[in-house]
Order: sequence, then structure tokens, then C-alpha cells
Amino acid sequence: MKILNKQIINDVAGVKITQLDILAPDIAAKAAPGQFIMLMASENGERIPLTLVDTDKLKGTVSLIFQEAGFTTRSLGRLNSGDVLYSLVGPLGHPTEIKKYGKIILVGGGVGIAEILPVARALKKAGNQVTTILGSRNKELLILEEELKSTSDQFYVMTDDGSYGRKGFTTDMLKELLDKDKYDLVYSVGPIPMMKKVAETTRAYNIKTLVSLNALMVDATGMCGCCRVTVGKEVKFSCIDGPDFDGHGVDWDELQKRNKVYSVQEKHICNLFPAS
Ligand code: FES
Repeated sequence: MKILNKQIINDVAGVKITQLDILAPDIAAKAAPGQFIMLMASENGERIPLTLVDTDKLKGTVSLIFQEAGFTTRSLGRLNSGDVLYSLVGPLGHPTEIKKYGKIILVGGGVGIAEILPVARALKKAGNQVTTILGSRNKELLILEEELKSTSDQFYVMTDDGSYGRKGFTTDMLKELLDKDKYDLVYSVGPIPMMKKVAETTRAYNIKTLVSLNALMVDATGMCGCCRVTVGKEVKFSCIDGPDFDGHGVDWDELQKRNKVYSVQEKHICNLFPAS
């Protein structure tokens, strides 16, 4: 699994976001929007899930975008064009259900914006009217703006500090739009607090709301139970039942708690091996 191209998308204020284009023809041939891969940067590394942002079936490549957040993503960030990944498995998970819904709002936050892009393109191609709301802490951290703008009928940016677009949260704009018009689907990917707020906002309007969950994973084949989430009081595995779920049914507090389970160990190992 050779890295053909590496691009640093952002490297500001301690936030480093990188795109890797990787030669993986079998995965590229089958992947659909919303699916993910499991990757090992090296033989002794851990497996991490990353969403497929783009695929090129002719060239046989897949594109991944990740933010350096822990030991493994930092190790991945040290690789360059020409380097070879130890393993790449996929496509995994159910694809996002793509069909003609009508009017759709996509809400992306932080690096979750990368996961919105393939879904936006597919939903637009299926004949939907697509409105996109992107959120980031500031202008510098916003990614894939042009790509998503060109795929959307309406496009909005919200920044925490007001340095670009409008100051405020994605849910401020979401509420404004829902107050003015009727929509058929809201799809959201981003930090857990943002997706939770999106689901809380749309519940009052009774709009179908899908979220792509970023639960911790180990094997991604439904055997370890690490990615367990509760949806509508049922236990589901994010890797084989998701990653898309009904946002109104997700137990957000449990997901938040489970995703922090290794944060002490992660901090410890990051201190031992600081970012280069
Ligand atoms: Fe093991 Fe999903 S990652 S069950």
C-alpha cells in the first residue's frame, strides 16, 4: 500500500491535517461514500479507522484525510510519498444510504468535514438539493471549502471566533434554516458535542438525522466490542452496523465517555514520543 502523494492541508496553531493518496486498487474499486478503512502505519502500530474521502477507480487510489491527534496519527504524519503502509483493510462499514430525499442539510465540523465531501457529492448526483454548513474554530482551520462549495446549492461557514463566515456554531445556522424552510434529511459528521447538538436541534423539527460516529475501534470486524454504541436502547457496533446511525437514538453521553477511555494512556505515550 504505497503512498503516492502527501499534502499538508493545514499546519497552524498546533493543528496538523494531512491528506494521503494511496495506491489501493481493490479498495478503490469497491468503496462507496460513508465507508472507511482500517490502517496500520507500521507492523507494531495500532489499527485506526479513517474515512475514505475520495477514490479514483481508474488510478486505483484512495484518499484519506486525518488530523494528528495521538501517537498513531503522528506516526502516520511522518510518512512521505513513496513510503509503504503496513496494512490497509477495506472498504468497511455500510455505505451512507444515497437516494433522492429532496432537500438536505449537511453539517460538518473540524476534520469531520472531510467525511462530508464524498457524501455531499453522491447526494447531489442523486438529485438532491444540498445545503452545507461547515464549522471550524477559525478561518485557518477550515478545510475543503472550495470542494464543498462547488457541490452545494447553498453554502455557509461558521467560525467560533468570527474570523470567517459568520461567528457562532453550525447549529445556530441550522436552526435558522429549519425555521425558514422544510428539509427532508440532515446528515452530520464532526466532534461528538457538535453532532449531539445537531441531533437535539433537529429533533424539535422531526427531521430524519443521520450521524457518522467516530467510535474507538480495534478489529473493525464486529468481534472485539470496542466500538459499542447504544442507539435507540439497542447495542450496536459502529464498525459493522454503522458508521451511520439515527442521531436521535444515539446515547451521546455514553459515546463521549467511551471515546475518552484511553485518553490517559494516549497522553502518556504522546509525552514519551513527542511530535516531530
Ligand atoms: Fe471491534 Fe467494532 S471495532 S466490534
